[in-house]
Amino acid sequence: MGGKALAREPVLDVGCGTGTDLVLWGRQCGARPVGVDLSHQMLAEARARAGDCSVMQAHSHHLPFSDGVFAAVRGERLLLHDTDPGAAVAEMARVVRPGGRVVLVEPDMEEAAATCPTLYTESGSLTAWVRRSFAQPRSGSAVRRLLRAYGLVSVQSEVHRERCDAETADTVLQLRACAAWAHESRGAPPGQLRRWLSDLHERDSGSAPFCTVPIHVASATRPTS
Ligand SMILES: C[S@@+](CC[C@H](N)C(=O)[O-])C[C@H]1O[C@@H](n2cnc3c(N)ncnc32)[C@H](O)[C@@H]1O
Repeated sequence: MGGKALAREPVLDVGCGTGTDLVLWGRQCGARPVGVDLSHQMLAEARARAGDCSVMQAHSHHLPFSDGVFAAVRGERLLLHDTDPGAAVAEMARVVRPGGRVVLVEPDMEEAAATCPTLYTESGSLTAWVRRSFAQPRSGSAVRRLLRAYGLVSVQSEVHRERCDAETADTVLQLRACAAWAHESRGAPPGQLRRWLSDLHERDSGSAPFCTVPIHVASATRPTS
């Protein structure tokens, strides 16, 4: 996001994690990135990776900045974990300057789960697991509505469908943990657990697509008046 328009401008990454995007923002646009995250562990990694960026601990619902100080604000895979995503978007809309852009990048994990092979979806356990694991499993499908709801305009969006192999799907959806949970808590038959695990084991060695994760990228502008 940004190109030369953001050169030397302050920009904010909410839920910056280990700081990968801070580094890219600085390098590609010459911007002055600031990162906030709740986790001290993530921030320690971000400091090590993006030493020349400013990073600090903060909650997305209470950003420690005055109104309208950033040229652009982004959040990636942040709302997925938020029980009140509107509170985070309201803060992002507050701290971006008039004319500046807010960008949200969020997956739809429920839709991703539905694209897994039938063996995994037939019992309904995977959908139940995804709903239990993420505060907003469909955050991706909500981003356009959220940006509009907090007064932002000129909303643009696109969906990238990322094809994952079995290993990546297991990392993203925690399929092995789901199988164990379905067996212990939902009384799924042991045979089902065995079939999931042996299927995953076999697929691990290959790189064939296993499921598709829809990633919604949406951006919008704070009005100038
Ligand atoms: C899935 S990681 C994504 C990190 C990074 N945005 C990326 O795309 O690589 C989510 C990050 O959001 C942080 N986070 C979760 N809830 C938060 C909140 N309410 N305020 C600030 N950070 C939060 C987590 O600590 C974690 O580092």
